Amino acid sequence: MSDAEARREQLVETYNEASVCERCPLSETRNRVVFGSGNADADLMFVGEAPGADEDEQGLAFVGRAGQLLTKIIEAIGLRREDVFIANVLKCRPPQNRNPETDEILSCQPFLERQIEAIRPTVLVGLGKFAAQWLLKTAEPITRLRGRLGDYAAAGPGAPIKVMATYHPAYLLRNPGAKKDVWEDMKVVRELLKE
Ligand code: URA
Repeated sequence: MSDAEARREQLVETYNEASVCERCPLSETRNRVVFGSGNADADLMFVGEAPGADEDEQGLAFVGRAGQLLTKIIEAIGLRREDVFIANVLKCRPPQNRNPETDEILSCQPFLERQIEAIRPTVLVGLGKFAAQWLLKTAEPITRLRGRLGDYAAAGPGAPIKVMATYHPAYLLRNPGAKKDVWEDMKVVRELLKE
């Protein structure tokens, strides 16, 4: 089996496990598990926080208003949604879209770790506080992390994986003035992908 086939198989196995997961109480309130989707061989992977109402209903990541803005952000650097992989820290919707809790993040994190291991992107973009802090294993506020490049701590052997922390698209919907910062971050990502 080629390396690419083995990694794809790992992603499918992870999907199969996640889709019946009952590791935390969110499994009792969710409608659908939102595993994430896109190109299993992507150079660029986005990580958001958790599914919202639209995502929970459809089983797909970033399909609501924030998702439409994420699509525009991806297209702004010359890519299509199908070129990248999009996932979340939590695979199930927290009731009323409340913030993820630490024990939920810990229960769910093996799925995201295995997704990243299987996809092996060159660059990870952490959208908002929860994703940026998880990817960089830090408790620093997003205002400090944003725009700074870091390394994905659990990358394992092989090429290091860069992490760009930026604002969450839902934050941009409420604060359009911050779009220019995200554009600056995405230009850095675009350059990294060319290397
Ligand atoms: N917000 C997220 O963080 N993820 C989604 O999938 C949708 C909205």
